[in-house]
Amino acid sequence: HRKYAPFPTIDKPDRQWPSKRIEKAPLWAAVDLRDGNQALIKPMSVAQKKRFFKLLVELGYKEIEVGFPSASQIDYDFCRALIEEDLVPDDVHIQVLSQARQELIERTFESLKGAKKAVVHIYNATSPTFREQVFNVDKEGCKAIAVKSAEWVRDAAAKQPDTEWSFQYSPETFSATETDFAIEVIDAVNEVWRPDQGQRVIINLPATVEVSTPNVFADQVELVHENIRYREHVLISVHTHDDRGCGVAAAELAVMAGADRVEGTLLGNGERTGNMDLVTAGMNLYAQGIDPEIDFSRMKEIRALVEEITEIDTHPRHPYAGDLVFTAFSGSHQDAIRKCLARYTPGDIWRVAYLPIDPHDLGRRYEEVVRINSQSGKGGVAHVLERDFGISLPRWLQQELAMVVQQDAEEDGGEITGERIHRRFNGDYLNV
Ligand code: KIV
Ligand code: ZN
Repeated sequence: HRKYAPFPTIDKPDRQWPSKRIEKAPLWAAVDLRDGNQALIKPMSVAQKKRFFKLLVELGYKEIEVGFPSASQIDYDFCRALIEEDLVPDDVHIQVLSQARQELIERTFESLKGAKKAVVHIYNATSPTFREQVFNVDKEGCKAIAVKSAEWVRDAAAKQPDTEWSFQYSPETFSATETDFAIEVIDAVNEVWRPDQGQRVIINLPATVEVSTPNVFADQVELVHENIRYREHVLISVHTHDDRGCGVAAAELAVMAGADRVEGTLLGNGERTGNMDLVTAGMNLYAQGIDPEIDFSRMKEIRALVEEITEIDTHPRHPYAGDLVFTAFSGSHQDAIRKCLARYTPGDIWRVAYLPIDPHDLGRRYEEVVRINSQSGKGGVAHVLERDFGISLPRWLQQELAMVVQQDAEEDGGEITGERIHRRFNGDYLNV
């Protein structure tokens, strides 16, 4: 049964509609404990990371980047705790980031001793700005850094054969790199790792800073998807940030362009404007009838934990998670919502005006939807009285009460609670 219709239809049988679509959930990778963490004013403690990791596992994430153990003692200790306290389910990969330097790669492997499944993620920046202004290397030098570190990873993994290793390479600043050069570097890395011979390899394409419209990023991803060697043996991953406010859209278009995997964080915490938001991306699929394979019915818990640990509040209009996103104050919206809800039977396709999804699916209640201020009409006021106090009013009284409530709201300039409407109904409005 499909609760949500995938797309509006059009009457043009000769046209492929929509031109592209996402058919199934990508593999998600949660990077809250690494990219999210490195952007926090107060980075997470081991105890906080454990709680966050547990939630990510319970929600259904199977790939979780847990830290940067060669750069942080807390992250190193957290890796050891995950492994020594046996906190990682058998079907979950823990992932760690390392810079492309031999001593750091060795320390990274040390932090993962005894892991069942682990992803070692190495990166170096490939864009002209980084090559010319930060590292002072030419293209060959930049490629050589990637190749050398791929060799160190391959050789270190061979010394710890009891772990099921995945290797991940990110050409950092991919979206600002000449795409043909990025492909050259990726091919060179894959010649070391040889995914065609059974090594699990992830090629992660970051929009480290979002520099273009999402379609341009998707075109870059498509070029990689169509041109790298060993494509069928490699997972293509994308890692978008939100500098232009389009991190989710860029990831979605990238999946339509061939990406298999998407990295992001719950509610979008991350460097600068944040990482791509896993909640929005997952729920966008859900709202079009595609199972995101992540449990978002625990939205309140997700929000509470993320807010507590990141010390960042959720915007009240954050898609799906904000306090106000299932709220209507305006009279005409309230009226349309009430009519649709009255007609909705569980099992039907969800068709409720102004509510793209059923708040119940996120553990929220219809009671939050209709709220009263000076923009509201008689229908809303009557609805609140009936909903909260079981009192249904005749039409003439609805009108009279609504006028009084509206006057209160105009005088106060804010919201009028159900209690106050009830008090007004109980008589004190007669004295106005
Ligand atoms: O944004 C970025 O480029 C990163 C890489 C390390 C993957 O976080
Ligand atoms: Zn990042």
